[in-house]
Amino acid sequence: MKIYANNKELEVSGQRPLIDELRDAGYDIPSLCYAPNAVHEASCMVCMVRDADSDQMMPSCATFPTEGMHIDVDSDEVMSLRRMSLELLLSDHKARCGVCGSKDKCRLRELAVRMKAKWTRFGPLPPPCQAEPVHVNGRLWFEPAKCIRCGLCVYNSDDGFTFQGRGFDMQVVIPEQSKKNVDKQLAELCPTGALYIL
Ligand code: SF4
Ligand code: SF4
Ligand code: FES
Repeated sequence: MKIYANNKELEVSGQRPLIDELRDAGYDIPSLCYAPNAVHEASCMVCMVRDADSDQMMPSCATFPTEGMHIDVDSDEVMSLRRMSLELLLSDHKARCGVCGSKDKCRLRELAVRMKAKWTRFGPLPPPCQAEPVHVNGRLWFEPAKCIRCGLCVYNSDDGFTFQGRGFDMQVVIPEQSKKNVDKQLAELCPTGALYIL
């Protein structure tokens, strides 16, 4: 099928979300809660694009192309919404890059720098999280302060990962009884290095 990205015609299969089609066509679409071939629920909203026909913003990771649709990929309006989504996440982030072991492989930090996002747009930063890193199993660790609750580990774990609480209080819980089986590949999905191999 044909779609139009920034008014340029693209031939797409229609079987993959817009984010994959647009990236393959060379567009730089950021994402945090999405990984190709992994189960995800659109939650970070940093991948937004605009449906130029209906003037609706939509997460490109959770939207499939339809014949003839026109997508505004990266206008000022789109970029500003993406930045705001990022700033919302940062406003509740309880780790500090200066003392964080994830620094060089953290997609949240990389995006914040690249998109010139303000950490304090929605008020002063919360105090750093005092929770200690949790040993999951073997060389796998979980550091709650770095978690942005993207859900990738929860939705792709066969080991009982779950969310507890709601809103800003929501946190990942790894049940004791399932820790011995946890798949280390989950660390590769984690966008901040909250799950990491030591
Ligand atoms: S997890 Fe990423 S954004 Fe958060 S403090 Fe560490 S490097 Fe910075
Ligand atoms: S630990 Fe990582 S993958 Fe899991 S919810 Fe937190 S940020 Fe996402
Ligand atoms: S990457 Fe699309 S909502 Fe997170």
